[in-house]
Amino acid sequence: MLVLGIESSCDETGVALVQCHSAEHKGEVPELLAHALFSQIEMHKAFGGVVPELASRDHIRRVLPLAQEVLKGSGRSLSEVDVVAYTRGPGLAGALLVGAGVACALGAALGKPVLGVHHLEGHLLSPFLSADPPEFPFVALLVSGGHTQLMRVDGVGSYVLLGESIDDAAGEAFDKSAKLMGLDYPGGPLLARMAESGNPKAYTLPRPLLHSGNLDFSFAGLKTAVLVQSQKMVAAAGVSIFKDLPQDEQHDLAASTQAAIVEVLVKKAMMALKQTGLKRLVVAGGVGANRQLRAQLNEACGVRKIRVHYPELHLCTDNGAMIALAAAMRLQSGKQQASANYAFDVKPRWPLDSL
Ligand SMILES: Nc1ncnc2c1ncn2[C@@H]1O[C@H](COP(=O)(O)OP(=O)(O)OP(=O)(O)O)[C@@H](O)[C@H]1O
Ligand SMILES: [Mg+2]
Repeated sequence: MLVLGIESSCDETGVALVQCHSAEHKGEVPELLAHALFSQIEMHKAFGGVVPELASRDHIRRVLPLAQEVLKGSGRSLSEVDVVAYTRGPGLAGALLVGAGVACALGAALGKPVLGVHHLEGHLLSPFLSADPPEFPFVALLVSGGHTQLMRVDGVGSYVLLGESIDDAAGEAFDKSAKLMGLDYPGGPLLARMAESGNPKAYTLPRPLLHSGNLDFSFAGLKTAVLVQSQKMVAAAGVSIFKDLPQDEQHDLAASTQAAIVEVLVKKAMMALKQTGLKRLVVAGGVGANRQLRAQLNEACGVRKIRVHYPELHLCTDNGAMIALAAAMRLQSGKQQASANYAFDVKPRWPLDSL
């Protein structure tokens, strides 16, 4: 069975084609045949963040050429597609409507059923496309631009929320701190690059909820602490903006910020593993690409004899492959059937544990 997946929840248009196995191969991971992605980052950079209306309009421009690219790359034709999947939520309503509308129009025109996918389920299952795929059950650490969650995952569609951020997400903490340092949107990867040559112990920044005893996170206070620290540094150096500070000071603050975020994520992930008694951790979402986070998780998991799995680096942030994969895994596990009802809706807010 061939599943075409369309992702359009935010500022990346992604399309992918996966081959899904039949029921007797239930345990096998669907095969990714081709995927294509267009990132709108350059367009939104000028505004310092995603402009929803511009995002929707650009998805309209990109989605069909990307679908053609995927079909060409896989050597398959549109008529061979058995199911058209799309991101139903969560995300920006207008952006989601583009993917959902195109998917349902394609489905109706081809006479093939459609399936709406939860974006975070896509992120969470994306490590199944890596060279070292996980096995159920596991604890998932979902760290993206909009979410920071710890989940107990017992199988496809079996998600129990263990803890989450009560305010900003980890990716947001990276991006907002980066913005204060004068870096372009999204600043997370740029801050991480600066941090590589900085001293993570140079400045003392808060580790919010580190000792709260539960698995919740809070990152909103961190950006205020970064702001206060950067203002102090600017005043002490007698310069007018952060970017005019000596480079080593800039790198030290970036490293200290990254260290604060990473320490909380690692500690809480270890607590979740201890609490559940599970011996496997799956990391997903854009922040999962962070090298320092990976290094510290590898170390902490190594000591505890816990297996840790990550998505391929290029599949950490939004992409169509994870949406096609999630649809294929839902179909293969019998959790969901594709539907010939093309009267779609989207769910901008949609808790994963309500699936
Ligand atoms: N190397 C890195 N270090 C830190 N943060 C990173 C790195 N690479 C990407 N990010 C962050 O990951 C986030 C984007 O990830 P992703 O695409 O998974 O999130 P999203 O789709 O915007 O949010 P959601 O999936 O919650 O709707 C951004 O906040 C970005 O700064
Ligand atoms: Mg995402």
